[in-house]
Amino acid sequence: MLAESNRTVTVWETQLPLPLVGRGKVRDIYAVGEDNLLIVTSDRLSAFDVVLPNPIPYKGKVLTQISLFWFDYFSDLTRHHLITADLDQMKLDSRLLEKHKNELQGRSMLVKRAKPLPVECVVRGYVAGSGWKDYQKTGAVCGHALPEGLKQCEKLAEPIFTPATKETSGHDINIDFEEAVKRVGDKTARKIRDLSIEIYKKGSEYARKRGILIADTKFEFGLLGNELILIDEVLTPDSSRFWPKDQYEAGRDQPSLDKQIVRNYLLEIQWDQQPPGPPLPVEIIEKTSRAYREVCRRLVDKEIQ
Ligand SMILES: Nc1ncnc2c1ncn2[C@@H]1O[C@H](COP(=O)(O)OP(=O)(O)OP(=O)(O)O)[C@@H](O)[C@H]1O
Ligand SMILES: [Mg+2]
Repeated sequence: MLAESNRTVTVWETQLPLPLVGRGKVRDIYAVGEDNLLIVTSDRLSAFDVVLPNPIPYKGKVLTQISLFWFDYFSDLTRHHLITADLDQMKLDSRLLEKHKNELQGRSMLVKRAKPLPVECVVRGYVAGSGWKDYQKTGAVCGHALPEGLKQCEKLAEPIFTPATKETSGHDINIDFEEAVKRVGDKTARKIRDLSIEIYKKGSEYARKRGILIADTKFEFGLLGNELILIDEVLTPDSSRFWPKDQYEAGRDQPSLDKQIVRNYLLEIQWDQQPPGPPLPVEIIEKTSRAYREVCRRLVDKEIQ
């Protein structure tokens, strides 16, 4: 579906004449030949793992442009799945391109098709979200015993790797490192742990200089033959908690640059977090769209329109 109002193009769902591999909560994924995928990032927004009924204008473009920046930025640390984001270089059927160019522009990536590992690589530099909940209950997060007396959203001395399962439906479940080892093997688990922490550190140093704290994030890795590559999206406001640095103060919830705006609204209306998600008020949609574009501007100097 393509809705156009003034210059805003909102993409809720694409219908391309290619084999559909799947629709995730946010991405439409098509096969391009045997080895490649066309990943189209829509403007769908999920919160608490439920897709909400309203698209957020420009969101898919923001996520795509930010990920593109990071794939390049981390290319000395890890191989990744990106082949190109330039539609003209994707060698797609010319009729497909002609018909869908407007909708695909800026939000599509041709990537190498990998076998995603069944573990989500979460890194936390601050104790927030489900980490804060676990810490309050047990004093630990995913098997990492943390010092006593940490405040909500407090910075950790060192970032920690807190893997989660990749659930096909519903919430991902936090697991400890031993459980990750059971799922992917010792060598791979160590490798994705060390890489995730390294990427997080390098990325958050960069973001901090631009006034953004990356509180935590989730990476995905996949196997291409025997080779481990970084896939999916990287350090976006969807896969991470981004906080404005100048307003940071431990001991409370942080004002947010990203979808916390939506999360807060949903908490306020006491939605039971079961599908379907409630419609969002126009102000929340616009505020969220502005927040996503502001992050893109600040982080990677890209003006999205
Ligand atoms: N290079 C790749 N090869 C194979 N799969 C990939 C690749 N890059 C990303 N993926 C998969 O594509 C999907 C991305 O879609 P999206 O972000 O919408 O999904 P999600 O909502 O996070 O998860 P789910 O697919 O479980 O709903 C993820 O399941 C991810 O594992
Ligand atoms: Mg995803």
